[in-house]
Amino acid sequence: MPADEWIFLYGPPGVGKSAVGRRLAQDLALPFYDLDAEVEARSGAAIPEIFAREGEAGFRTWERRALDALLDNTTGVIALGGGTLLAEGLRSRVEATGLVLSLEAPPETLLEHLTSSSDERPLLSGDIKARLEDLTAARAGHYRSFPLRLEAGNGAPGEIAWLAQMRLGRFHVRGMGPQGYDVIIRPDGLEAVGEALRRRGLRGPVAVVSDGNVAPHYAARLEGSLRSAGLSSRLATIPAGESYKTLETLTALWEGFIRAGLARSSTVVALGGGVVGDLAGFAAAAYLRGVVWVAVPTSLLAMVDASLGGKTGANLPHGKNLVGAFHPPRLVLADPGTLDTLPEAELRSGMAEVVKAGVIGDEGLFELCAWGWEAVTAASDEVVRRAAAVKIRVIQDDPYEDGARMALNLGHTVGHAVEKASNFRLRHGEAVSIGMVVEARLAEDLGIAKRGLAETIAAVLNDLGLPTRVPAYLDSEAIRRAMQQDKKRTPEHLRFSLPARIGAVRVGLEVDDWGPIERAMQQRS
Ligand SMILES: NC(=O)c1ccc[n+]([C@@H]2O[C@H](COP(=O)([O-])OP(=O)(O)OC[C@H]3O[C@@H](n4cnc5c(N)ncnc54)[C@H](O)[C@@H]3O)[C@@H](O)[C@H]2O)c1
Repeated sequence: MPADEWIFLYGPPGVGKSAVGRRLAQDLALPFYDLDAEVEARSGAAIPEIFAREGEAGFRTWERRALDALLDNTTGVIALGGGTLLAEGLRSRVEATGLVLSLEAPPETLLEHLTSSSDERPLLSGDIKARLEDLTAARAGHYRSFPLRLEAGNGAPGEIAWLAQMRLGRFHVRGMGPQGYDVIIRPDGLEAVGEALRRRGLRGPVAVVSDGNVAPHYAARLEGSLRSAGLSSRLATIPAGESYKTLETLTALWEGFIRAGLARSSTVVALGGGVVGDLAGFAAAAYLRGVVWVAVPTSLLAMVDASLGGKTGANLPHGKNLVGAFHPPRLVLADPGTLDTLPEAELRSGMAEVVKAGVIGDEGLFELCAWGWEAVTAASDEVVRRAAAVKIRVIQDDPYEDGARMALNLGHTVGHAVEKASNFRLRHGEAVSIGMVVEARLAEDLGIAKRGLAETIAAVLNDLGLPTRVPAYLDSEAIRRAMQQDKKRTPEHLRFSLPARIGAVRVGLEVDDWGPIERAMQQRS
């Protein structure tokens, strides 16, 4: 199954398939087709006329013809008719070609939409309320039999289209780079990489950059998928770990690119965690003044954070990420199935960023995290889609970090400082976990959040096995120094993004008094 499948919107009459589909296609930068309009164009007759002339069976034949013609074409979003997939054989054909999202709404909403629309619907003529009740009762089991369903309710098409993107794991990030880039999250994503590159006109030879932990598990599958799409590839395996995120590793990568005959039109694919992504992306940004790259993130942190946003870079002996470039990938393709081999400590660390995403902008995701470790690991696919969605929404609003994007710094002003002061004994996720709780306490103290928020966040993080208190071995002065060196500070003030409640954060808050910060860090482990 290719990564860029068709997306079919389905559901009862009046549920909003066309309005949502049009908006979804626009958001995903894909063509949109309305099956009814395609039928009318092919048959040269309005739908009521087809019904009058040829009956429902005749209409279904026209639908099948119109759909066949579209599916042989490229891909896009199609709003199907309310009963299209009842036709013999059509459902399996459609499900083999793409994802069917079944939209649902209560009968009153359907009726309201239908009575306010001027479209003539032959199957509902006469007593529209009674006909609709009969039709939805007869088809209820059919609509419910689709695995991907979404409550469309009375929301605006834009809102439903956004929920649809989260449900489908398909996004398009605008605002960075001339054409933006797609983010695709899907369980068998590794097998789809080759076809996804081919469809985007990306060319070989492809340099696949991975590390010593990830390559043995996944490089062969990925290179196999490239081969099937007719793309030649060369694997460059770097040693695993942050200590190799250096200029030396970059030089080795560039030398490898030259040996592999990588040209200006070639493609770099980063297969690994955030270290591989940052390095391979930066190597691509500078090689021949910029070649295209594709991110295939394999750690939780990389899927929900590092691979999204176009930042690439390397460390210098003087500090982390001191050199780098904004060089967005052409595609991010995440396969949550690869998390099966991620060491548990890395998974827990990545979970801090997931909780952060919930606190910033998705109350439902935060509630899912509150169910605990078993629940979140069993729902890793949903967890990745929802957490990635929060970051994507934020970077869409502020691609180059001028304002709203600062929301993503939640937990990081304190987090970076304790990480640094611990001399990196604390993992990044652990430090962010502590940082989030300390910053929530600070928010309470400053009257930005209601009392109790810090405890609510701490309880969820603790349940996920993450620390929430500054370790007793860390001296406040060292934390203070580290915080003041943080590159995100303004000249005189420390700048925070603080939680106001679950699902909302306030950015750019300057705190010039150390007292409240010190108080927020008082509880030690
Ligand atoms: N560019 C950005 O916007 C951004 C944002 C956040 C973090 N980062 C960077 O990301 C890096 C941290 O990312 P990370 O936590 O993914 O670190 P990482 O790349 O070091 O991966 C963590 C460990 O897990 C291993 N691993 C990864 N995926 C695996 C898999 N599926 N199976 C088995 N092992 C696997 C890696 O080999 C490594 O040992 C830092 O360098 C940080 O600066 C960048």
